[in-house]
Amino acid sequence: MKRQRALALATLACALPTVASADELNLICAADVVICERLTEEFGKAYPDISTNMVRMSSGEAYAKIRAEARNPQTDVWWGGTGDPHLQAAADELTTPYDSPMKAELQDWALSQAKASGDRSIGVYSGVLGWGYNTEIFAAKGLKEPTCWADLLDPSLKGEIQIADPNSSGTAYTTLATLVQLMGEDEAFTYLKALNENVAQYTKSGSAPVKAAARGETGLGIVFMHDAVTQSVEGFPIKVVAPCEGTGYEIGSMSLIEGAPNPDQAKIFYDWVLRADVQSLMPEAGSYQIPSNKAAKASEHAIDPSTVKLIDYDFAKYGSSETRQHLLSRWDAEIGGRAAE
Ligand code: F6P
Repeated sequence: MKRQRALALATLACALPTVASADELNLICAADVVICERLTEEFGKAYPDISTNMVRMSSGEAYAKIRAEARNPQTDVWWGGTGDPHLQAAADELTTPYDSPMKAELQDWALSQAKASGDRSIGVYSGVLGWGYNTEIFAAKGLKEPTCWADLLDPSLKGEIQIADPNSSGTAYTTLATLVQLMGEDEAFTYLKALNENVAQYTKSGSAPVKAAARGETGLGIVFMHDAVTQSVEGFPIKVVAPCEGTGYEIGSMSLIEGAPNPDQAKIFYDWVLRADVQSLMPEAGSYQIPSNKAAKASEHAIDPSTVKLIDYDFAKYGSSETRQHLLSRWDAEIGGRAAE
């Protein structure tokens, strides 16, 4: 009886048309998990035949994963995260050139990332570096509002500051590169050693420090200003600061992986995610960067870069393998740190 049923099932299986397995897309998303999940969901609605496997990681971790997979790539697209490691991946030829038809709709700064990388990368958003501090903690402890990089060295802030580890985090690498450009390399490392006295924890992810400040676990997080804005918009007592001496910024970027398993699906995602209507979704997911599509709507909460003293950040130099490796090794040797989250 059992054998008859098995035979009948086998005959039925042969008679059925073969169902094509769904197309796949392997995405590394190096921004906040909320926008990563939202983009994955919206892409699924727009292209129901493509099933997306998304993994969220920090910028430096994404670079390390793509580098580790170079002989046998598992990833198709790397969306988000600071532009420096995308440029390093481009120089290492871990990513592949693509001349997207969407380029015509993008801001000049997004195209400058494409130019610097030989079309191996493109700008998807931009954001300015600063910090957010918990006004209730500062008031309760009688601490002075820190408005300049120099103020962060005040001994009263001992144990009150969190920042990420620049090996894993693009935010922290942008901080390191910004300080070097503002002060010169030796002076920047002297500054970082002094800052280390006030740092309670080096986190893995760039935005974790201001999330901790919002929850009252620390006084201040050095982060991209938009990540501090997210916490204050959510109602936490976080004040957002642009440092008085000047500061750096990111061109959050996207790259296609060289030798990717699903190159066609990757290009579909790439063109879709550069669309104005898709980028306009970012504020709904609590992401307040400036979008790269000229027609996308920036949030009323977004930081206007023209109100901040910006340095002329040298993306080509600080995104080069040589400079990035040199600064990270020097940071490991002289500052070190324990990645906690
Ligand atoms: O949280 C969003 C964000 O600040 C992006 O703007 C940026 O590209 C990314 O996170 C950097 O994250 P990390 O410092 O963890 O690499």
